[in-house]
Amino acid sequence: MTSDSLNVVDLDQADVAAGMALSTEAGWNQTPEDWSHFMANGATIGFRNTEGRLVASAAALPYGGAFGYVAMVLVTQDYRRRGLATQLVNRCIADLEGRGLTPVLDATDEGATVYRNQGFLGQFAFDRWQGVMQQGQVVAKSGTALERREAAQIAALDKQAFGADRTALIEDFLARAGTFAMVAEDGDGFALLRTGRRAYQAGPVVAESEASALGLVEGLLASAPGTVFIDIPQVWRRIGAWLAERGFTIQRSFTRMALGRAEAFGDPAKLFAVAGPEFG
Ligand SMILES: CC(C)(COP(=O)(O)OP(=O)(O)OC[C@H]1O[C@@H](n2cnc3c(N)ncnc32)[C@H](O)[C@@H]1OP(=O)(O)O)[C@@H](O)C(=O)NCCC(=O)NCCS
Repeated sequence: MTSDSLNVVDLDQADVAAGMALSTEAGWNQTPEDWSHFMANGATIGFRNTEGRLVASAAALPYGGAFGYVAMVLVTQDYRRRGLATQLVNRCIADLEGRGLTPVLDATDEGATVYRNQGFLGQFAFDRWQGVMQQGQVVAKSGTALERREAAQIAALDKQAFGADRTALIEDFLARAGTFAMVAEDGDGFALLRTGRRAYQAGPVVAESEASALGLVEGLLASAPGTVFIDIPQVWRRIGAWLAERGFTIQRSFTRMALGRAEAFGDPAKLFAVAGPEFG
């Protein structure tokens, strides 16, 4: 079967379960709420086979500023290497460029082979650390639990570090049951933890220094009653060493890439954990 017999379709809220089937097959951590965010705020597309089964997906998620995200690029096992991902990503690129935005994404190693062919350049690498904080390992907590009304402060700090405004996403995270948020004592940083399908997802973590970020990470992980994933740029070796000492291991690595641009957006010196590869 070739992609000629498949149809590109726009996905909406009715397709959340079909999207979940694809991300779950790949072992990913997304929840229905994550998929729903793409359906509501982005252009989410896919391929259905002749039986109507969703066999591939991708989403273009515009952010406020210079760039938007390409995410949820998934092709079910028996439909791979037929150019489906390439076609969907090309459509996402066209969508974002049509809005005047540079396409950015966080690539798995498999994905990076597709995206390099399309002109994406690597900006920096980050590691997904996985582990469980054991009781009694926490020495000190930094920061204070947040009220939801402080979302604007968090969104502003996130924008500085990340490089684009994603208030809608921050508000979505904060509105979800099970989300935990902290601000640094000096008010110059924050950290979020949300529920995932397989594990809690920590991030973003934004701070003025690695020491301050470590305090936030400590407090954040201490509040997670189970396995946590946290995606940390490889430059932050002290945080990596701290996690390794507590039994965390690197599950996989990702590369942040942008179409035709190797220089990172925002202020990488303040970005200590990303929101997750699907959101940046
Ligand atoms: C990565 C993924 C989306 C690729 O989907 P796909 O439809 O098979 O990709 P395409 O057919 O468009 O591949 C285009 C080119 O990328 C390269 N490529 C794609 N998958 C590759 C692989 N596993 N190994 C090496 N090269 C690969 C090849 O050059 C390929 O061209 P070719 O088949 O003519 O050699 C799919 O393997 C997948 O869903 N993987 C699991 C989830 C994932 O990692 N998604 C990416 C998130 S960033």
